[in-house]
Amino acid sequence: MTIPVKTDAKSAKPLPKPAKDFQEHLAILEQRGLVARIDRAIDKDAELHPLARWQFQGALPEEQRRAFLFTNVVDGEGRKYDIPVAVGALATTSEMYALGMGVPVSEIGDAWLKAINHPIAPVTVKKAACQEVVIQGDALREPNGGLKLLPVPNSTPGFDAAPYLTATLCVTKDPETGVRNMGTYRGQLKATDRLGVRMASRLGGAGGYAHWLKYQKLKQPMPIAIVIGCAPAIFFTGPQKLGTDMDEMGVAGALLGEAVKTVRCITNDLEVPADSEIVIEGVIDSQLLEPEGPFGESHGHVALEDYNMSMQVTAITMKKKPVFVSIISQVTPSESSVMKVVAYEPLYLAHLRDHLGVKGIKRVVMHEALSNVRPVIFLNFAPGTPKTEIWRGLQGASTLQAQCGKIVIAVGEDVDATNADAVFWSMAYRTNLNEDLHVVPYRAPGHGPKSGPRTSDATLLIDATPKHPMPPFALPAKEFMERAKVIWDELGLPALNPRPPWYGYSLGDWDANWDLWAKRAVEGKWEETGRETFQGRKGGMIPETPVRSVGNNSKSD
Ligand SMILES: Cc1cc2nc3c(=O)[nH]c(=O)nc-3n(C[C@H](O)[C@H](O)[C@H](O)COP(=O)(O)O)c2cc1C
Repeated sequence: MTIPVKTDAKSAKPLPKPAKDFQEHLAILEQRGLVARIDRAIDKDAELHPLARWQFQGALPEEQRRAFLFTNVVDGEGRKYDIPVAVGALATTSEMYALGMGVPVSEIGDAWLKAINHPIAPVTVKKAACQEVVIQGDALREPNGGLKLLPVPNSTPGFDAAPYLTATLCVTKDPETGVRNMGTYRGQLKATDRLGVRMASRLGGAGGYAHWLKYQKLKQPMPIAIVIGCAPAIFFTGPQKLGTDMDEMGVAGALLGEAVKTVRCITNDLEVPADSEIVIEGVIDSQLLEPEGPFGESHGHVALEDYNMSMQVTAITMKKKPVFVSIISQVTPSESSVMKVVAYEPLYLAHLRDHLGVKGIKRVVMHEALSNVRPVIFLNFAPGTPKTEIWRGLQGASTLQAQCGKIVIAVGEDVDATNADAVFWSMAYRTNLNEDLHVVPYRAPGHGPKSGPRTSDATLLIDATPKHPMPPFALPAKEFMERAKVIWDELGLPALNPRPPWYGYSLGDWDANWDLWAKRAVEGKWEETGRETFQGRKGGMIPETPVRSVGNNSKSD
């Protein structure tokens, strides 16, 4: 019996097993030519993130995007760092995310569902690579010690108030139930031994915030461990929305295919993945908040200064030779939005198709560019889906999570909803806005800038599916576009990057007679058609009267 080997769709190379730590993942990317190693000195405060940013702002096709490894990092004061910085190594492309999971892109959704349903509990070890170096006590307060030993980049030079931790896995524990949470929350450098941490307090916000509220009631500080750099399959549970009663470390184990090895922190009883690159241990004040920000946010605006959590660092532990990991965030598309899209879309489809049993639902597309994945969702429906099912789908997608689906638009299966122009085309010509649009009141404002009055919001649902057969899409049919593409390439004209829709196709409203005429037109025999239509001349009408509305005696059969 041959065991089928999982391959990566684009390269057709066998997929490696998911890496057990971050440096193994980096090696896998490097073997595949996906890492740009930058050995010249780069200023982490002014140059590093803007450089990695260009691959999104420069509109590179996904397959040309790279992870960056900066091996010669300096800061705004000219200080040199021993620790290299990796940016864009987790999810600059969906392929990279899939490599971290050890599954093809098409199986990412199933891998999540399986892991959520069959978690594997972690095992605790006594000795861990992430504790080869331990910095605590006075060493945390030395002028260039503590957090200043870490090459933390400035994400949005010109706007951010300080360098920020972005690729975090923040581990906290519910003081009542003991259930652990792992979330990706930003951390602002404040002092060699202090961080500002922002956990979303909105409805459906951060799991760590729910823990903090309980510590506040108990009048106790909240222990926290911030992991920087671990196996991607473990890290990806941070930005993923999982149930509050679910231990993300168990889900991470199931994604890895084996129990995650964890180690107890040095200064609190939280446990972290033993093979992490760097761990920052500490306590968060549960009574006093400290001003935090500004910071360039993924909703495309800079988050202004807010009171947020204040974390006292009690220890920094790391490997002897760690890599510092950062994420390209801020406005989308970005590494953080690629990460959300690949994880959220299959879960939304499974919710609509399998949990709600919505008929005809084919695909869920979450709009990425600028809008940041959550607010705008498109649903593709099969032709002939009953209107009632389309509306169940629209309502289901808008209510699954408080912060997702402010605008949900249903389109036909022929519309490639990753092309927003195609969605606008569909809305322009396939809706009767008197009946296909509804505004549903009472939505929480969600993730977004706070400027201006904004108490409650609403949901916009639009059915832009075709309600009846429609004329064909007006481009040459596929065979003619393909034939012309061969000629284009033979002529050595500039390389094309075809984007659907790039050929004409039928949408149901057509007549066999017109097929014959089109065939004749291709064969240069259009005069035969002209002779037939001459026979069909009629009076007593204004121009633009549809032939079908009066009957047609020009049929050729
Ligand atoms: C790069 C990145 C940065 C993020 N920063 C924050 C943040 O600062 N605060 C926050 O509450 N959520 C942030 N998120 C979103 C959360 O990680 C996400 O909502 C996740 O579900 C939180 O996990 P939780 O439900 O266990 O809290 C960020 C996500 C990414 C990918």
